[in-house]
Amino acid sequence: MAELLGAELGEVEVTRFPDGETYVRILADVEGSRVVYVNSLQRGPNETLVETLLTLDALKDLGAREVHAVVPYMAYARQDERFKPGEAVSVTTVAKLFKALGLSSIYTVDMHLHRIRDPSALFGASFRNLTGVRELAKYVKRNHREILAKSVIVGPDEEAEQWAKVMAEDLGTEYAVLEKKRLSATEVKIEAHGANVKGKVAVIVDDIISTGGTIVEAVKALRQLGCEGALVACVHPILTGNAYPRLLKLHLLDLVGTDTVLSPISRVPIAPAIAEALRADLGFGRS
Ligand code: R5P
Repeated sequence: MAELLGAELGEVEVTRFPDGETYVRILADVEGSRVVYVNSLQRGPNETLVETLLTLDALKDLGAREVHAVVPYMAYARQDERFKPGEAVSVTTVAKLFKALGLSSIYTVDMHLHRIRDPSALFGASFRNLTGVRELAKYVKRNHREILAKSVIVGPDEEAEQWAKVMAEDLGTEYAVLEKKRLSATEVKIEAHGANVKGKVAVIVDDIISTGGTIVEAVKALRQLGCEGALVACVHPILTGNAYPRLLKLHLLDLVGTDTVLSPISRVPIAPAIAEALRADLGFGRS
């Protein structure tokens, strides 16, 4: 991102104290500067969250003029409601922690904002939720041109309609949305309700693959309707537990994600989309 924006790259040392606590030291001189801090809440969301909060607060404390946080994968966003009595609403708690830092702005990528109307108010900073789907669409165009004429974009549930629509627009194809019922954190049931996929290639697009349950069920439902092949593209390839081997067994035409979360399928860089937004909003590169 620094290269794309022609900005100076500062480093942060992050280690652990012997008892497991996080140690952070900013190695750049940030006094009076406008700082963009980039960290995705992946590789263990608890640790990266603490690392991020400590770093952002230190940047302010060391006299940075403006601090902008880029959090490509914002963890804790899916628990955005008290689904069962007594549950902690984690997105609200995490937002309060960010709010306390007094940041200039926050950038996320396809954050789960389904029930959050005003993220700027919740996080206490100008908030932009960018999308990685356009980068995924470019990847499909570049690498699978031959399937475009016979493809249909599929959102595996109602919430995925927004991404299916963007992908369909960019690829000039139609899209369909499936119906998903979540039975537990690891189990879902999907119905395709006569989606028009017979003899076509389904390009399934979703924001997150976690256990892989959604994709497995979606592919099953689409195959029952006679779809010829399936390609899966997701923004945040979390791939918990045995999700990756489970997905490999589906013999997909391709399985790809962006690098907001590092995994064996993170082949689409998200930096260009973020750099474009930072350039437009903060004026990098302008004289
Ligand atoms: C749900 O809201 C998301 O859009 C994904 O569909 C979901 O997180 C995928 O989870 P899993 O891979 O565990 O089915």
